[in-house]
Amino acid sequence: MTALSAASALELGEAELRARGGRKWAVPPEVLPAWLADMDLAVAPPVAEAVRRLAASGDFGYGLRDGVRPGAAVAEAFAQRMQRLHGWWAEPAQTQAMADLVQALHTVVVAFAEAGAEAIVPLPSYGPFAEAVLATGRTLAPSPMLTDADGRWRLDLDGLAALAASPRARLLLLCNPHNPTGRVFTRGELEAVAAIADAHGLVVVSDEIHADLRFDGAEHVPFATLPGAAERTVTLTSATKAFNLAGLRCALAHFGTPELLRRYHRTVPARMHGVPGLAGVEATVAAWREGDAWLADALALLSANRERVVEAVGEMPGVRVVAPEGTYLAWLDCGGVPRGGRTAGRFFLERAQVRLSGGEEFGAAYGDWARLNFATSGVLLERILERLARAAAGAVAAGS
Ligand SMILES: Cc1ncc(COP(=O)(O)O)c(C=O)c1O
Repeated sequence: MTALSAASALELGEAELRARGGRKWAVPPEVLPAWLADMDLAVAPPVAEAVRRLAASGDFGYGLRDGVRPGAAVAEAFAQRMQRLHGWWAEPAQTQAMADLVQALHTVVVAFAEAGAEAIVPLPSYGPFAEAVLATGRTLAPSPMLTDADGRWRLDLDGLAALAASPRARLLLLCNPHNPTGRVFTRGELEAVAAIADAHGLVVVSDEIHADLRFDGAEHVPFATLPGAAERTVTLTSATKAFNLAGLRCALAHFGTPELLRRYHRTVPARMHGVPGLAGVEATVAAWREGDAWLADALALLSANRERVVEAVGEMPGVRVVAPEGTYLAWLDCGGVPRGGRTAGRFFLERAQVRLSGGEEFGAAYGDWARLNFATSGVLLERILERLARAAAGAVAAGS
């Protein structure tokens, strides 16, 4: 209870959220947003303080932090955090700081796959994975994930191995914890992926941006820590999801060995990235060094919300969900709701006035699905769930 009441101090109300003018809430007044991956929570006090301190100093020149350049400071904070949480020293000299992670996805694809070469992407997938492959003139090798009888998603390891065996395969883009399914892949699953990559000489790009957002003791295994994997692993991360800092723009790519970094810089010189802004660096360092107490409260709230989503969806006719092991995203199977030819996202926008992320954003085959962002107040979540339930029940009862 203590944790939950502390967590409730984080919750922001609808009026404030609408007044802020952020992208997630740029929806008509009758619509409730549960789409974009921002949290409707008050930011961690150490983060707010770090940004306030910077603003108050008025010093917006070329900065140093702790006597080193901002990019080096954020790389050091990342290494220390990984050491503390996972016993992994992510060598700062092998880290490239940049403004955002999607940028890193694109540059890594360009660096490690020549034009026309294949990059393997498990589906469903956070949209920019496929975008990074296609927009850079590389070839997308999609690997549809599988579901167990209980609906739990898993990687198709045989399918991945078959795609990896192609002479033109160069890269595997992995998202762990996985957006949108919420899977936190087990050590065994990751070892199997590492073995496939090793057998076929693939570089693995491991997007671990959701790593701090896990439930029920699910273990996060940084891909680069798997035996023998470092030499072929690029880890992408930032504090933007767990600490809700997406507007401040600071991310990093860590290369498992100096040689991998050299290979990268042969195509993408460090200068091509520019550097992250000082406010983003200050916020990220504060989050990673001093944000644990806030994160624990946020996770308590998210965990309660997740249980509520599973319970409410369990009672919704035509909709199914498997409890996500990580992220604040629930991947809803809306295949049992008659929708008159509309995608699930469109259906719930029109009939429930709730904006979800349509499943088709994560792969053309997923129009029956929708992604619900449950990082909001208990009150707003309840209203969102009620609206979804009413729309689903109405459509099931009417049969169309
Ligand atoms: C898996 C994943 N990677 C990257 C990002 C975006 O990162 P950024 O906005 O820092 O580019 C998101 C945002 O939701 C995400 O879910």
